[in-house]
Amino acid sequence: MCGIVVYVGRKGDGAPAVVLEGLKRLEYRGYDSWGIAALDSRGRLATLRRVGKIGGASADRVTRLLGSGSVAVGHTRWATHGGISERNAHPQVDCKGRVAIVHNGIIENYQELKAGLVARKHRFASETDTEILAHYIEEGLARGQSFSDATRSIAKRLKGRSAFIAMDSKGGQIAAVRLGAPLIVGIGKKGEMFVSSDVNGFLERTNKVMYIDDGEMALLSFGKKAQKAPEFLNVSRGTKVRKRIIGIDWKRERESKLGYDHFLIKEIMEQKHTIAQAINQDDAKMRQVANRIKNAFGVFIVGAGTAGRVCAAGEYLFSDIAKRHVNSTVASEFSSYRHYLTKKTLMIAVSQSGETVDLLDAIDVAKSKGARILSLVNVFGSTLMRVSDDFLMLNAGAEKAVASTKATTAQLSLLTLLAYATAGRLKEGKRLLLNTAEQVNDMLNPRYEERIKRLARRLRRSRDVFIIGRGVNYPIAEEAAIKLQETSYIHAHGFAGGELKHGPLALISRGSPCIALVANDDTKHETISNAMEVKARGGYVIGVAPENNEVFDYWLKVPDAGVASPIVNIIPVQVLAYHLAVLRGINPDYPRNLAKSVTVK
Ligand code: F6R
Repeated sequence: MCGIVVYVGRKGDGAPAVVLEGLKRLEYRGYDSWGIAALDSRGRLATLRRVGKIGGASADRVTRLLGSGSVAVGHTRWATHGGISERNAHPQVDCKGRVAIVHNGIIENYQELKAGLVARKHRFASETDTEILAHYIEEGLARGQSFSDATRSIAKRLKGRSAFIAMDSKGGQIAAVRLGAPLIVGIGKKGEMFVSSDVNGFLERTNKVMYIDDGEMALLSFGKKAQKAPEFLNVSRGTKVRKRIIGIDWKRERESKLGYDHFLIKEIMEQKHTIAQAINQDDAKMRQVANRIKNAFGVFIVGAGTAGRVCAAGEYLFSDIAKRHVNSTVASEFSSYRHYLTKKTLMIAVSQSGETVDLLDAIDVAKSKGARILSLVNVFGSTLMRVSDDFLMLNAGAEKAVASTKATTAQLSLLTLLAYATAGRLKEGKRLLLNTAEQVNDMLNPRYEERIKRLARRLRRSRDVFIIGRGVNYPIAEEAAIKLQETSYIHAHGFAGGELKHGPLALISRGSPCIALVANDDTKHETISNAMEVKARGGYVIGVAPENNEVFDYWLKVPDAGVASPIVNIIPVQVLAYHLAVLRGINPDYPRNLAKSVTVK
């Protein structure tokens, strides 16, 4: 979703071009418009706002329009308040053209705050909630407040999760305020300073960071009164906060597609090694975490979207492997369980980005009841990692395509291993999963992909696709539907095989494609029977299974991976989703209306 990049350098450093480069690195998060504010050669605020993709914008053009000064603030916007238009893109400025704002998240009480400004005759240039910040700071400055106090005054009144940057072009200061949405300061060479909502926004230039915590702001100065280092303040009290510079060892992933046409297929193929990476965990730490699970009084596994389906699979895995009851729920519904939470509850939060707002809100609920948080997360330094009591890294490397693939199987692998550790069978779990990783490596060969491509050609004009699974493959059927929906825009519906006869069977007609996810376990025969029920109504049955069966019209062979069947069963559907997108002329990396990191409710 929205992204922020700020650069403060030296004269002639070409700040707008540096910010443009950083914004391009945040493209994967999903956005619909973008903009940059900078100081022109006479120290006046100049802004540029555009609708559409930033990929085509050249550094030369941005430099021609905004100059090559030392300070710039940039933003990629995913529309929430106000349509997708240049006037609603950020930066937004105040009536006097002095203060520029870029903002992530939502100001829940903006209507009430805006009403006061309208009554005081401020002119609004956009429909955004963001713009009110510029006008409130303008009022504070007019009243004689310092820039930092004016910024704090309005920041204290905001409701909802957000983060914003305010730049005072006249006073030579930038405030970076964190109120529940991520912001990180980067310290570069020779006085260079960065701020971004995602470390990828500046990691190409520095890996030295200073974390802004919630309820804090960083003040960066430029121009005549420039200071070499940022100053950190508590927003409500205005008191100084001491910070350390931390070197992060999250190696920047090579962002090239490595010869692949899209990130999505590159990331699908990377599963040849990411499964093994996910389970490359310290044994002592795994046992310690397993003990916490055993000693907890109530365990909840929580995630959103695809991660939510992984959590549901986790419930089956813990039952099957560790004979333990754990509850799973999607993050946006977690608060309904608050009455069952105590200090002895353990919440296992599962996330690729570590920034999903529904999950962070769920954590607030769990923490308010004193529950302990363990997270399984891919992005190092993410908010989730920082608010958790314990964390395990997924080690999947940067995932750029909006549709999650390698992070999904990393999550499944790590949850499976945790279940084994909880059962006191860690070594056995590692052996099984390493074997699965090798089987996936063999499976993902060009002939296999070609076979799936042939199936994609057969399905490319389908209106609906049904997916069935039982046991642990039931949530995987739902995940398969998410993958097909978001990449190919074909209506896909995943459900438990046993539920077919309770409704969905009415939708099956001649040629309706139905994917049956079959595992070599005690659900196998019943899943095959359900596939037969589909076939008897004229459906076209695609079997994802270790063995062929007469009911399958098309067979996608997967290795017999035992309890790791969810990992191997989802992969052919990921490849199918990719090829369907390509055949239907859709960019598989950036589905419409979706974002990689979902930072609004
Ligand atoms: C779908 C997908 C999303 C994410 C969800 C949670 O392919 O990727 O459904 O799983 O938005 O994101 P994270 O894992 O970053 O919390």
